[in-house]
Amino acid sequence: MGSPRVCRASAPAKVILFGEHFVVEGVPAIAAAVSLYTTAVARQPGEGGGVRVCSEGYGCREVWPSKPSSMSQLYHALEKLACTAKLRPALVEVSSEIPVGAGLGSSAAFAAAVLAAYTCYLGLELSREQLSELVYEAERVVHGKPSGIDNTTIVHGGFILFEKGKGFHRLEAKLRGSKLVIAFSVVARSPGEAVRRVLERKKRLGRLGDDLYELAKRLVLEALAALRAGDPVRLGELMDVNHGLLNALGVSTPVIEELVYAARRAGALGAKLTGAGLGGSIIALAWEDDVDKVVKALSSKAASVYVTELGVPGVTWTVLSGC
Ligand code: PMV
Repeated sequence: MGSPRVCRASAPAKVILFGEHFVVEGVPAIAAAVSLYTTAVARQPGEGGGVRVCSEGYGCREVWPSKPSSMSQLYHALEKLACTAKLRPALVEVSSEIPVGAGLGSSAAFAAAVLAAYTCYLGLELSREQLSELVYEAERVVHGKPSGIDNTTIVHGGFILFEKGKGFHRLEAKLRGSKLVIAFSVVARSPGEAVRRVLERKKRLGRLGDDLYELAKRLVLEALAALRAGDPVRLGELMDVNHGLLNALGVSTPVIEELVYAARRAGALGAKLTGAGLGGSIIALAWEDDVDKVVKALSSKAASVYVTELGVPGVTWTVLSGC
């Protein structure tokens, strides 16, 4: 018998470029994988009979076959995997550069990296679709009833047009000469609370709410055209409009507004909150030449600022040793 495999997987963060919240009620949304990563290495454990996960942020836990009090999302995903595959003990070590609670898909990237490394270690050949379903299983535990946009974008990568309950398309997009700046506001956020508040407001607004959702749909179509044409200027302006719509839904905050305006004043082509809002992060699209100015303007106001590539590949995995 050969030596057991050691596998490494790397999962990107995601940003929602257009359509967060509206997506919950069936409006298409556009998301992209970005170049911040969670990395996991799976190997045979020195001792113990279960699947043990160690991360800098959460410490070490056995996540299967016993159900842990934290990281239980992994237990649920592995239980689903156990329906079709024989699981073996493993040690999975995780490190991440994606901030937690920032609206950047850290929980989906965590699950995607762990599950991709672990299934590679088991020698399973899962399709991306199967992997995405497992990550969704984990996300249900973390987020309640997520739309599925995070697991889809992080597993498949690139630019994604996502429609809840209908699936997704990979988009051909090229945004040459521009970069995405992400600023994390540090204000703790609760996606569940934000989604609940938005749905309540939509109900109260009645016809006006329906009109806002209709506008969001048209905005996504315009954004699609701008992405396909590779037009960062148009895209930036549409991001500003999307931020206005999210503001109308009540999920911006004074801190988010301060970051959005700081980015715009510093020369960004457009800026908006990304993800659930009520804190979390903003994204700003900028010409490469203006990126430093935008970063400088955001650095004094945000907890962390990242300059990222948009539309990077989805989760990758590789055998480091063994067979
Ligand atoms: O903040 P995030 O990255 O968890 O994104 C939430 C996006 C919502 O549209 C508000 C909810 C969802 O499930 O799509």
